[in-house]
Amino acid sequence: MKAVILISGNGSNLQSIIDNTDRIDLQISCVISNNKNAFGLKRAESSKLRTAIIDPELYNSKDAFDRELISIIEQHEVELIVLAGYMRVLTPLFVSHYFGKILNIHPSLLPKFPGLNTHQRAIDASETAHGVSVHFVTEELDGGPIINQESVIIDNSDTEESLSMKVLKKEHVIYPKVIHWYTQGRLKLIDNFNATLDGKMI
Ligand code: GRF
Repeated sequence: MKAVILISGNGSNLQSIIDNTDRIDLQISCVISNNKNAFGLKRAESSKLRTAIIDPELYNSKDAFDRELISIIEQHEVELIVLAGYMRVLTPLFVSHYFGKILNIHPSLLPKFPGLNTHQRAIDASETAHGVSVHFVTEELDGGPIINQESVIIDNSDTEESLSMKVLKKEHVIYPKVIHWYTQGRLKLIDNFNATLDGKMI
């Protein structure tokens, strides 16, 4: 299955997907970044993947930016859009255009801690468990149906950095796994609140 991957930064999740492409039946048609300095672009180039950069400063509205994003994605005729550390909120225009075809990975046990700084917020809230969620993207930020989660234990000695490393390790396993479910046609988004795996509600 052909996919584009959207990134903004380091791209360690992109790397884990690249490393698993054969096994998960994925063909990465293009890696698109809103940040020209994203290290993930270098990872993509090292793997001879096509890349595109969209500079937000050149667009006077979020819709204009997302229209350009759509026009680049359309050139690749993909069936899946994978957000891998993509730090822009997608417009309703974009989300409705690709309804049911967008996956995101979020570093918390959603519905806890949507948004930013999840690791520090989990520590500050004295949580004992934390983790990662993969979900379908809907208009609500980090609010689409959760497909799968992995948890880690928060130790007393954990810092934001140590916790993020623990969670990232889980991210690099869970995301290729869920993408594989998608490429096998096992996942379907029904509406903004419901999705199925193998025809069963999740
Ligand atoms: C990950 O923690 C991911 O869950 C979040 O942003 C981070 C991106 O990391 N959405 P990387 O760029 O994949 O290394």
